This record gives sequence, structure tokens and C-alpha cells, in this order.
Amino acid sequence: MTNVFLETEEGHTRLLIPRQPTKAIFYNPRMELCRDIDIASVAAFVSMQQSQRLRYIDALAGTGVRGVRMAKEVGLSVTINDWSKPAYECITRNIKLNEVEERAKAYNEDANVLLLQNRYDLVDLDPFGSPVPFLDAACKSVKKLLLVTATDTAPLCGAHTGGLRKYAAKPLNTEYHKEMATRILMGRVTRDLCKYDRAIQPLLSYSRSHFIRLIARVEKGAEKADKCMNRLGFIGHCFSCGNRVSSHNIQNIGTNCELCGAKIGIAGPLYIEPIKERRYCEQVHNELEKREQGKKKAALKLVDASMKELDVPYYYEHHALCKALKVQPSPLYSLIDALRVKGFSASRTHFSDTAFKTDAGLEEIKAILKML
Ligand SMILES: C[S@@+](CC[C@H](N)C(=O)[O-])C[C@H]1O[C@@H](n2cnc3c(N)ncnc32)[C@H](O)[C@@H]1O
Ligand SMILES: [Zn+2]
Repeated sequence: MTNVFLETEEGHTRLLIPRQPTKAIFYNPRMELCRDIDIASVAAFVSMQQSQRLRYIDALAGTGVRGVRMAKEVGLSVTINDWSKPAYECITRNIKLNEVEERAKAYNEDANVLLLQNRYDLVDLDPFGSPVPFLDAACKSVKKLLLVTATDTAPLCGAHTGGLRKYAAKPLNTEYHKEMATRILMGRVTRDLCKYDRAIQPLLSYSRSHFIRLIARVEKGAEKADKCMNRLGFIGHCFSCGNRVSSHNIQNIGTNCELCGAKIGIAGPLYIEPIKERRYCEQVHNELEKREQGKKKAALKLVDASMKELDVPYYYEHHALCKALKVQPSPLYSLIDALRVKGFSASRTHFSDTAFKTDAGLEEIKAILKML
């Protein structure tokens, strides 16, 4: 049995993982960055709560790495579940290895059954592909904080069909598809929660390589849920000139581009209000600084970029714009400075190292690019 496993470490947690990759006991070392950010994010959330005795569930746990880390590195009471028997056995061994038996309990159930039978303060959904099959049960179960991963980025980004089917929203395959995917997922979570008179308050949302991660506070009340639904809207994108607009009301977008008159593509419904809370991101940043973690540097960079990012629901790829205008790209910081000098807000975005966000319109951006 021991030969089957290899011992490794994440954060302060020792971990048995399968020596050979196997679907029966899922472990992806590339998600360590996500788990490092989660540990800091949950620690920041807990430090802002009056009650420290919070119950957390990783409903789709694989080796149990997230839950065991939450028990050991944040001190939470955790439920760690996987319906695969070998995964359940691995979780049990990882709990013992880290001596967190008092705080951590392994389950071998269908995630939906467990979530429908119990309520948890913090619910973590980290599936293979889409979280949609588990969202309804998670929204019924969660009391305070929801953490959701999606790895089915193709349908969310508009590269496949499936966005409509799974997320009841239409994505468009644009240069800012990563952000569109994040906002479509947030929109779907909003609608699932609001059914139960609960509202979502996004705290930190990001996209990296193959996945999207949302961390959001959950609040109770029909009035809050109504307000939350009003944060949904649409993005209009012109594939002819690159113009983009957003509105809560689809009629405000119209059918043709205001700049060039071409037919405009419409994406949505999706979440068009801020997908992060700056004060919370600062706390996550502080937590990361305090901790020794394998991906600390990358985690700090990502949280810092998210925190400083403008709350505009799309971004512009600098090089694509310069190519369309046939101008030589200047450094991105000088474009951002020039936009600010002209009185606009502008920032980088964590979604892409070569992109920027601004409240300036496309014509204004183009005029500045030509001057640089
Ligand atoms: C992506 S892996 C989880 C990775 C893990 N959270 C981590 O951080 O390494 C998804 C897991 O969900 C489990 N799973 C899939 N459907 C399930 C269900 N309906 N109930 C419980 N577990 C399920 C799979 O066995 C798999 O181990
Ligand atoms: Zn246009």
C-alpha cells in the first residue's frame, strides 16, 4: 500500500499522493497556487468573523489536500469528501499523517447528498470540469462563504457550444474571454443562490491557465438577493471594430455598434459589477505575507494585481490594438500613464500580462495610442 503513495508537502501539510497519476485519487500539483491563495483567503475571512468555530467542507476532495490544509493551517473544523473509495482511503491517511483527527472527518458520499443533508459555513467546490452539477446543493448548504472552481473554460469562453446549456448564458469568444468566463460563472452562481433568498458578495475572483476560481461571501435576505440579481447584465462586443460596452439593460446596448454600425454581438446574462473587494484582497495579501508557502511569490503577484484592477467588466489587449492601428506598441505602463493624464482611470489586469483596463472608450484609447 505504501508503495502506491509518495509523500510530498504543501504549505505546512504533509501529503500522501499517488505515485502514478490516477483518476481514482485525483491530485494536480499545478493547483498548489490556487490552494495557497485559498488558505490565505479563508484565513482572512475567518479573521473578519466573530465566531471562529466555522465548519468547512471540501465536497470533491481527491487526496483531501485542501481540507487537511484548512484544518492544519487555518484551524477549521473540516469535512472532506470524495465518492471514490481509494480517494476516501487516501483522505483518511492524510488526516492521520497530519494529526488533525480532532478537526477533520473523511466521508465517502455523493457530494450532492452530503450538501443537501448538512449546512456548512464554508463550502468549497473543486470539480473536474464544471461545478454546475453541484451548485444547487452547494447554494442550499452554504451559510457564509462559497469557493468555486471551474475548469471547463472552453464552453465558458465561447470556444465551444455548452455555455448556454450549462450556464444559461451566452459567452462570446473575445480577446477578454477569461474575464467573460469568470463573470458568466459568477452570474450563474448568483442566480443559483438568489433562488434561496441569498445574495453573493464577490471577494476575490481570478483565472489562471486552465481554471477559474471564485471566492464570495454569502448573505441572507430577499432584499439583498433582489439587489444582487440587479448586478447581472450584458456585454455588447463589435467584432468589426473591437468596440465593447456593458449594461444592466440589454436594450441599452442596441443591435448595432455605435462606432462603426456593424451588428453587435451580445454576451450574457453575466455579472457586470465588481468581482473583488479591495479591503478583503488586502487582508489576503497580508495573510500570504505571513505564511511560508510553495507558491507564495506567484500568489502575492496575483492577489496584488487583482486588488489593483479597475472594476470594468472587460479589458483590452494592448498588442492587438496596436496591430489593428498599425502602430508600434509602447510599454504598457506608458499607455496607462497617458490614459490617466487624460483624466481616465486605467490599470493592468491579472487576467493577462499584456492587457489593460480603462473607462476610456475605444476611440479615446486609439487616439492616445497614436500619440505615444
Ligand atoms: C478535481 S478533483 C478534486 C481535487 C481536490 N479538491 C484538490 O484540491 O486536489 C474532483 C474530485 O471529485 C470527485 N467526485 C466527482 N463527482 C463526485 C460526486 N458526485 N460526489 C463526490 N465526489 C465526486 C472525484 O472522484 C475527484 O476526486
Ligand atoms: Zn464597431
